[in-house]
Amino acid sequence: MAFLKVLLNVGLIFIAATTVSVDGDSENDDLNTTVNYRLPDNVVPVHYNIGLIPYIEESNFTFDGKSNIIIEIRRATRDISLHALDLIINETATLLINSDTDIYAPEVHNYDNETEILTLHFDDELFPGIYSLYIQFTGILNDDLHGFFRTSYINENGENVWLAASHFEASWARRAFPCWDEPALKATFNISIKHRRNYTAVSNMPIRDQSDDEDNMMWTHFDMTPIMSTYLVAFVVSDYVRIPNADGTFNMWCRSALAPHSKFAQEVAQKARDILTEYTNITDKVPKTDHLAVPELTAGAMENWGLIIYTEKDFTYNEKEDTLFRKQRVAVTAAHEMAHQWFGNMVSPSWWSHVWLNEGFATFFEEYILNEIFKDWRVMDLFVVKVQQEALHADVAKKMKPIVFEVKTRKEIDSHFSYSSYGKAPAILRMLQHIITAEVFRKGIIKYLYEHQFSSVTSDDLWNAFQAVLDESDVPHNAYTLKEVMDTWIKQRHFPVVHVTRNYDTGETILTQEHFHLKGENEHTDSDKWWIPLTFATQSKPDFSRTLPIQWLRPQDKNISINGVDPNDWIIINVQQTGFYRVNYDNLNWRKIANYLNSDNYTKIHVLNRAQIVDDAYHLMITDQLDIEIFLDLVNYLSRETDYIVLYHMFNYFIMNEEKFYKILEIDYFKQYVLHILNGIIKNIGYEEDPAENELIKLTRVNTLKWACRFNHSECKRTAANKLNEILANPETHRISRNLKEWIYCNGMMQANKTTWNKLLDTYFINQDKHLLEYLSCSEDPDILINFINTSVSNDLINNHHYDIIQNIIQQHSDNDAVLNYILKNLE
Ligand SMILES: *[C@@H]1O[C@H](CO)[C@@H](O)[C@H](O)[C@H]1NC(C)=O
Ligand SMILES: *[C@@H]1O[C@H](CO)[C@@H](O)[C@H](O)[C@H]1NC(C)=O
Ligand SMILES: *[C@@H]1O[C@H](CO)[C@@H](O)[C@H](O)[C@H]1NC(C)=O
Ligand SMILES: *[C@@H]1O[C@H](CO)[C@@H](O)[C@H](O)[C@H]1NC(C)=O
Ligand SMILES: *[C@@H]1O[C@H](CO)[C@@H](O)[C@H](O)[C@H]1NC(C)=O
Ligand SMILES: *[C@@H]1O[C@H](CO)[C@@H](O)[C@H](O)[C@H]1NC(C)=O
Ligand SMILES: *[C@@H]1O[C@H](CO)[C@@H](O)[C@H](O)[C@H]1NC(C)=O
Ligand SMILES: [Zn+2]
Repeated sequence: MAFLKVLLNVGLIFIAATTVSVDGDSENDDLNTTVNYRLPDNVVPVHYNIGLIPYIEESNFTFDGKSNIIIEIRRATRDISLHALDLIINETATLLINSDTDIYAPEVHNYDNETEILTLHFDDELFPGIYSLYIQFTGILNDDLHGFFRTSYINENGENVWLAASHFEASWARRAFPCWDEPALKATFNISIKHRRNYTAVSNMPIRDQSDDEDNMMWTHFDMTPIMSTYLVAFVVSDYVRIPNADGTFNMWCRSALAPHSKFAQEVAQKARDILTEYTNITDKVPKTDHLAVPELTAGAMENWGLIIYTEKDFTYNEKEDTLFRKQRVAVTAAHEMAHQWFGNMVSPSWWSHVWLNEGFATFFEEYILNEIFKDWRVMDLFVVKVQQEALHADVAKKMKPIVFEVKTRKEIDSHFSYSSYGKAPAILRMLQHIITAEVFRKGIIKYLYEHQFSSVTSDDLWNAFQAVLDESDVPHNAYTLKEVMDTWIKQRHFPVVHVTRNYDTGETILTQEHFHLKGENEHTDSDKWWIPLTFATQSKPDFSRTLPIQWLRPQDKNISINGVDPNDWIIINVQQTGFYRVNYDNLNWRKIANYLNSDNYTKIHVLNRAQIVDDAYHLMITDQLDIEIFLDLVNYLSRETDYIVLYHMFNYFIMNEEKFYKILEIDYFKQYVLHILNGIIKNIGYEEDPAENELIKLTRVNTLKWACRFNHSECKRTAANKLNEILANPETHRISRNLKEWIYCNGMMQANKTTWNKLLDTYFINQDKHLLEYLSCSEDPDILINFINTSVSNDLINNHHYDIIQNIIQQHSDNDAVLNYILKNLE
């Protein structure tokens, strides 16, 4: 088979290229090892009274603030240190008063702009006790979405309307008021905000009181918060509308135009609250939760306690127009932020090194919640392919840090909100859940939350809670302690590959572990070992339900063996891929698996293990640890697979690398191979969407057709063009699924002549559907495209979109010289 040889030879080049591209990222060298970024522990905050007056006016955009912070001095000192950033402090107004009402004024204000610590130095020694610290300051309502910031939207009258909102995670509260800005330094807060009467102020807590002030201004005072971290404080001053739930404790806030589309997020968030209350056996500790949408944020949303702030695109769902993808995104966001009300807000990490305790749990429970609400979305299965396999893909070379590592500077802290916290950490929690059983896991969570509520924790506190519950259970656990096991997963980066070698005479199966390496990496630099939970199924005992570890492959084990596997059977390790590792087999076992997958029995292998096999095999193949021939034998069966969970890998990795394969092959063998698979899938699921069918089948179809047409599957392209012609001939009566719209329109336009193309442009003039502009630029005819560019500039009906149109055309036709030259020539 000559083509395979070609593929193999050039395959090596491809692999080398992969290695280089993922290896580019360099280590974050810490130059500041000697600087202490942490606050001294001799003074701690107890309570903040904060009054803020934001000036939400062009030409001003500042705020005035006053705070009276009740602090405890624990050891005699002359210095009080706290955080501040970009604040002008009125130094003559700073005062400290003790419980005998003795007044102290600081001698000097020292500010270190590297650590952002303000140190008030007093001449007198301050003895232990409770004091009040008064500070007056002025800050900037900046436009960079951090701290207390300004933002705006265009209202229905076309006017720009400003609002002020806050985003403090990780270390931006100090830019709104001077504070002890570390997550463990919790306190209560009394917040008051002065604003125009035609604006509303919201914050973490319900409104306690309002009072009118001069010049159309008023004060809004909020109830005292629970004991909480500074990064979770929030306030917004806006002209938004409120959409309450039945008892007024779950309010959606947004600009009025979006109000009709806030219901879906509200429903998900309320259900999430009920599910979490039930699971954790603890109720949320704030009396109301507001959900508020701002035009932009630096994250999708922020979980401030009692005032969750979203970006509009992760908040509104319009049933008539939005896709399933958008719907899932909104649901995920609401569930994630609600999970934080427990994981993060009630119990917080003692320092940002442990931020995975926030993000890992919020992601883990977002999946749990959605699985409860949307049973047919198969959220837990999707988690494995979308989150866990993505983490395995990314956790190589220097691309990811360990889940726990020391962070000091602002930059390091922000860098820890990364895929190791959002992707690997929840996968590790899922593994733990299967090691100790779902029941012990839940009891451990309840214990952890109950013992540490209103406080802060490290990873060890979590292991201790689980261990205590495990010790009382009858789940076997003599072989290990949880901390010992889990530290190998959270303190080391990367993950192992388990090598499986079988003796087909004796029936013995030998397992060893190795640090998973990319080709070309220095294999001696990382020789870490893990505590690996092992589960397996065999051909004659294809039980894929038992996920409790049968054996452990420990760091100190050179190898371990499993006996009694029938030499005729295949063996598959890591049932339902609950363990965060890859598995490589000897060639004969791989061939047995491939044969079985290509037989009618393939569904007897659990869908998650089918997905695991395809994903592991691909990554082993591109790192030169598995023959490409075996890989192709395995994926050959995908032509009969219809489950999106398995096909996810193909849509997102294997055919995505088409260009690399093209370069390798110089013949289109790879293309033919993929077409054969896609063709098989189309034969099974067809071109028509049945509204009643499962959402995942719809996703399979959308992706299959997208790729089939991209690979020039002629029937796919013809079908799209025919469907578009039918629609254009009869636009009123012809309804198509919004999921298939892009496929039909874009592929239809690629083949359309001038008349058909003009028909679609006319449709745009009638319905102003902006998506149509994207589809119009799918045409491959340079004359049509050049005409489109000219029309977009000259025609009043679309020239407000001409920038987008030209951008679309450039993106889609970067290889079309005629079009590009025309654009360059006529840029003016
Ligand atoms: C902003 O407006 C307030 C209230 O009118 C005023 O006190 C303050 O001085 C103004 N700040 C600036 C920088 O103009
Ligand atoms: C600073 O505080 C002092 C004392 O409270 C006050 O007299 C003065 O007006 C303040 N300065 C500014 C610029 O607000
Ligand atoms: C701190 O101030 C010094 C001196 O003004 C300046 O050179 C340095 O860039 C500042 N550093 C930061 C982090 O702002
Ligand atoms: C917070 O505000 C309330 C209402 O004014 C007040 O009763 C309470 O004493 C304040 N808390 C503290 C610690 O100052
Ligand atoms: C609020 O009222 C002020 C005048 O007091 C006006 O300038 C401003 O445009 C109003 N803002 C909104 C959002 O209604
Ligand atoms: C839930 O909390 C209640 C009261 O605090 C307690 O009696 C009950 O045992 C708890 N349930 C679980 C499953 O821990
Ligand atoms: C397994 O490890 C033992 C030592 O622990 C060694 O003697 C044996 O040769 C190893 N077996 C294989 C197949 O590597
Ligand atoms: Zn989060």
